[in-house]
Amino acid sequence: MIKSSNIQPDFDKLTVYDSAVLASKYTAKKIAELILQKQKEGNRAILGLATGNTPKMVYEELIRMHKHEGLSFSNVVSFNLDEYYPISDNDEQSYTYFMNNNLFNHVDIKKENIHIPHTDCTSNQISEYCLDYENKIKSYGGLDLQLLGIGRNGHIGFNEPGSKFDSITRLIDLHPLTREDAIENFGDLNNVPHQAITMGINTIVQAKKILLLALGERKSEIIKKALNGTIATDVPSSILQTLPQVEYILDREAAVLIQK
Ligand code: GLP
Repeated sequence: MIKSSNIQPDFDKLTVYDSAVLASKYTAKKIAELILQKQKEGNRAILGLATGNTPKMVYEELIRMHKHEGLSFSNVVSFNLDEYYPISDNDEQSYTYFMNNNLFNHVDIKKENIHIPHTDCTSNQISEYCLDYENKIKSYGGLDLQLLGIGRNGHIGFNEPGSKFDSITRLIDLHPLTREDAIENFGDLNNVPHQAITMGINTIVQAKKILLLALGERKSEIIKKALNGTIATDVPSSILQTLPQVEYILDREAAVLIQK
């Protein structure tokens, strides 16, 4: 049974679930509802998607819905938040590989509707490439829904501390904590790229609906800062406090420091 509770009056958009599985299933349900609603209207669903450990169970649930409940992704257009720079699409640590492996290869999304920042451009082509990515999102009328995880330093996408709230898609230097956390996947700090292409904070906050999912005790400190702390660029996700379209979805462990 899904059990939820609103913890603080200021955060009526905050729901805490008893487990990561329940939080993920709820998140998947919200995404599926949007896809179905857009299908009914004869429209495309423009989804902003995230990578990392956090959304994995969301994608598993969406795949289950596709296989067992007939949820179709034929009207979905996706834009991923970010990608390491440089990295090859075939690299198992690339977000292209991640998305194919964890979602796209298992559902009926049209390949031409998938957008992930590609980092095969040379350094002097990057600004133009980033602007194109930004304009492409706009050309679809903006993101209907953006799924977000959160980095332990408060980043969203790869908008590291110090990122301006009006930033758009761009190349960014990765923060030491972000690179350290990526050792888990890359095996060694020396293998972790120093840079990435990321949607900007302004790109993200334009989304019509934003679901921020945080799971596990290791996210509890940053969740407290992001939700209760000062709104400032040293915690990029703090800007979300100001937005009516944001929903925070946490498991008990991630919420442990904000619970009364
Ligand atoms: C990476 C991604 C973010 C993600 C964050 C948290 O840095 N660029 O989009 O939210 O990691 O990752 P995890 O979910 O594995 O904790």
